[in-house]
Amino acid sequence: MTPQYVAAIDQGTTSSRCIVFDHAGEIVAVAQREHRQIFPRPGWVEHDAEEIWDNVQQVVSEALRAAGTDAAGLAAIGITNQRETTVVWDRSTGRPVANAIVWQDTRTGPLLRDLASAYGEERFRARTGLPLATYFAGPKLRWLLDEVDGLRERAERGEVLFGTMDSWLIWKLTGEHVTDVTNASRTMLMDLTTLDWAPDLLDAMGVPAAMLPEIRCSAEVYGHATGVLAGVPVASALGDQQAALFGQTCFQPGEAKCTYGTGSFLLLNTGATPVPSTHGLLTTVAYRIKDQPPAYALEGAIAVTGSLVQWLRDNLGLISSAAEVEELARTVDDNGGCYVVPAFSGLFAPHWRSDARGVIAGLTGYITKGHLARAALEASAWQTREVVDAMDSDSDVALRRLRVDGGMTANGLLMQFLADVLDVPVVRSRITETTCLGAAYAAGLAVGFWPDLATLRAQWRSDAQWESTMTPELRDRELGQWRKAVQRTLDWVE
Ligand code: G3P
Repeated sequence: MTPQYVAAIDQGTTSSRCIVFDHAGEIVAVAQREHRQIFPRPGWVEHDAEEIWDNVQQVVSEALRAAGTDAAGLAAIGITNQRETTVVWDRSTGRPVANAIVWQDTRTGPLLRDLASAYGEERFRARTGLPLATYFAGPKLRWLLDEVDGLRERAERGEVLFGTMDSWLIWKLTGEHVTDVTNASRTMLMDLTTLDWAPDLLDAMGVPAAMLPEIRCSAEVYGHATGVLAGVPVASALGDQQAALFGQTCFQPGEAKCTYGTGSFLLLNTGATPVPSTHGLLTTVAYRIKDQPPAYALEGAIAVTGSLVQWLRDNLGLISSAAEVEELARTVDDNGGCYVVPAFSGLFAPHWRSDARGVIAGLTGYITKGHLARAALEASAWQTREVVDAMDSDSDVALRRLRVDGGMTANGLLMQFLADVLDVPVVRSRITETTCLGAAYAAGLAVGFWPDLATLRAQWRSDAQWESTMTPELRDRELGQWRKAVQRTLDWVE
């Protein structure tokens, strides 16, 4: 029997899911499970990699069952993942040596200040496309090597292995210790041009080469799975934002998408050569298909968008489900003069200030929870505006429209406000699960389930579009207020 489906595992920040797709790129079945967010101290965020592995196995079984198929029905499976989150595990027992340190975690701030004074910020940025920031995997790995008893010696002897979530899952599924270029490009340890680990950066970061995975293409067969997926080729790995770019079929230079999840990430395909940023964006690998040159991207990474809505729900109890935020925000006509800047993990693009802390500005007795909900949604749009401004300055071509996807794009109020503040049309893809779709597309290409990029591109459809209705005067005034609120977070140095 010829396999009819391709599946993808999306190991995200708050949950893991598995989606089964058919040949037309349509969703056949979805399964999802949340995992614990562990906050041992202010600024620290951890995950239990074992819990995540258990969840992944369960969602795979559930999705196959819901699709009415089994391993024999899958031509391939692809992996996409929260990027930068760092795990180290024991090669012989397969157990993590500590909780995974999540991309949002800011514990490496002091370490980065030391690295900046010893080696200079520019040295890392020039080689890796990344600023020295707590966001990336290399400093998190260095922290573990310094803090977990005996870990460095064990790493030098090759007894423990490092990986981001893609590596952890591929190793669990196939026994191969590999990563792909997109995930490796978020470690601060890979040279963006050679696409290999850079020995001098490993020395500077204090990371033994023996513990690193092999860097492979994003679309190629790494091995065959065991367990419930027995015999299925594991045929793609991409960081989730790169996977969404691929799922949105932004294959041409100049095409961009923004995904609204826990955070939001705007990626612009810049083609076969890396474009350095001078305005606070990241230069990163977009994808690499086997036997083809890599594609690069400029990225505006925003740490907190959807997680601000979760915070309103879980920490303040303002709403009982994330979807309710739109209803609450619609109880008022505007923000009432209130601005929320959610610098929970410092501020990412374009500021890169790990020491910034969040503010609610403009509070008066007039402000209701409706205004707070509205200001929280507006924060996602203004942060996108800051990134788009940086992108316009860094690249020759101004953005003409923005493709969007992710859970928050179901929020019509937010999408309208986004079009208003960007002053370009915002276009939502019909399949908002572009992250999984991208990983499935890459895996399907690797095994010949789909013949080429043109076929995938022909499958892309939009289902909604928003145009700006805001006057230029109002937009400029609100942008000015937002900038003042951002300045308050930068002044708030602990
Ligand atoms: O870089 C972090 C990013 O990959 C996390 O994405 O969708 O899990 O918030 P998400």
